[in-house]
Amino acid sequence: MNPKTPPFDAAKIREISKEFPTPFYLYDEQAIRKTAQDFSAAFDWAPAGFRNHYAVKACPNPRILKILAEEGMGTDCSSMAELILSEAVGITGDKAFLTANNTPLSEYQKAKELGAIINLDDITHIPFLEQIGLPSTLSFRFNPGPLKGGNDLIGKPEEAKYGLTPDQMVEAYKLAKSKGVKKFGIHTMVASNELNPDYFVETADLLLRLLADVSEKAGVTIDFVNFGGGIGIPYRPEDDAVDLQRVSEGIKKRYTEYIVNAALKPPKLLFECGRAITGPHGYLVTEAVHEKHIYKDYVGVNACMADLMRPGLYGAYHHATVLGKENVAPTETYDVVGSLCENNDKFAIDRKLPPIDQGDIVVFHDAGAHGRAMGFNYNGKLRPAELLMKADGSVELIRRAETLKDYFSTLSYPGLA
Ligand SMILES: Cc1ncc(COP(=O)(O)O)c(C=O)c1O
Repeated sequence: MNPKTPPFDAAKIREISKEFPTPFYLYDEQAIRKTAQDFSAAFDWAPAGFRNHYAVKACPNPRILKILAEEGMGTDCSSMAELILSEAVGITGDKAFLTANNTPLSEYQKAKELGAIINLDDITHIPFLEQIGLPSTLSFRFNPGPLKGGNDLIGKPEEAKYGLTPDQMVEAYKLAKSKGVKKFGIHTMVASNELNPDYFVETADLLLRLLADVSEKAGVTIDFVNFGGGIGIPYRPEDDAVDLQRVSEGIKKRYTEYIVNAALKPPKLLFECGRAITGPHGYLVTEAVHEKHIYKDYVGVNACMADLMRPGLYGAYHHATVLGKENVAPTETYDVVGSLCENNDKFAIDRKLPPIDQGDIVVFHDAGAHGRAMGFNYNGKLRPAELLMKADGSVELIRRAETLKDYFSTLSYPGLA
């Protein structure tokens, strides 16, 4: 259970919105820092060290990345833009990862320039990367296929486009070694938004056993093991957060069994979680503009699916709080909708809420990861600003809202560009 209490009230939002009109994203810096610290502390037993490489795609704002860098995190990048963001905040060298797929040479080139660790998605990417010279360190992404079921959100590994098969893993390390690569890592990611702690322990079990196997068969030493992202967050009030202590203890047991007891060199432990770090600490703040009563009761807010796509895309639940009405009985059943000409544009369907009036502030929780980042411009919608709320309650604009000028800026048409 989690109470879903936002760290601000209606008066605070009204004050903020005088300077920065709704809708906007608001991130809670203090809570992000605390979560980052707790995450690292949970794995402080790892003998060769631990680091979470924050998945930049979850919240690609350099101010957020800088905070995470200060808390000791690295980055996991999936594109040129994300590599440049990582570089901008000073996360380079082995603190940056490139875990991409179907990757163009230009992105490998940029990763090499930064000294970032390249995590290859296929064995054929070895000769591809050789065109610009192989780096001295390489990692490979493992796809366990039917050996391990993925979770609902990510689907079956054998139907996923990512990674190498077990046999290919052995061949890839042999090939890379024969071409002069000196240092190796191993990676997998088979879950997304998973709340069951045992799932991560089972994944670690599989990957650590594979590590031992490829080390022997390919005659290599693996210096780091990356368990990917995918740790879920309790979007619903009745959900429990993932028990990190349990994940950590389970992984430690396997690490001891397959690595320490087998006298293998202890690899550094890595994750590349995004959602679990910033997800619960970002809010999409909107205002109710319309209500409509036809076959169902609707409340229209001044944001839409272009600002937060998850509910429309996969029916994801985002808890809604009507500020100032936290203690009013949820006597109404609303669809809370945006303004896109797209019937999926619903933040909530048949949601029990207190009566909502025009001008009420409606806040959607858990929007701090894969929220604004997944936004788009369909229907000519302009994406909202991002604000950072500091420990003292002050607010910093960390990305302004888009303007019509931004929207038209790529056109070649007189009077618009
Ligand atoms: C390769 C990779 N790593 C890490 C992540 C981060 O996942 P999450 O934010 O759910 O932890 C993703 C998400 O799509 C991913 O594709």
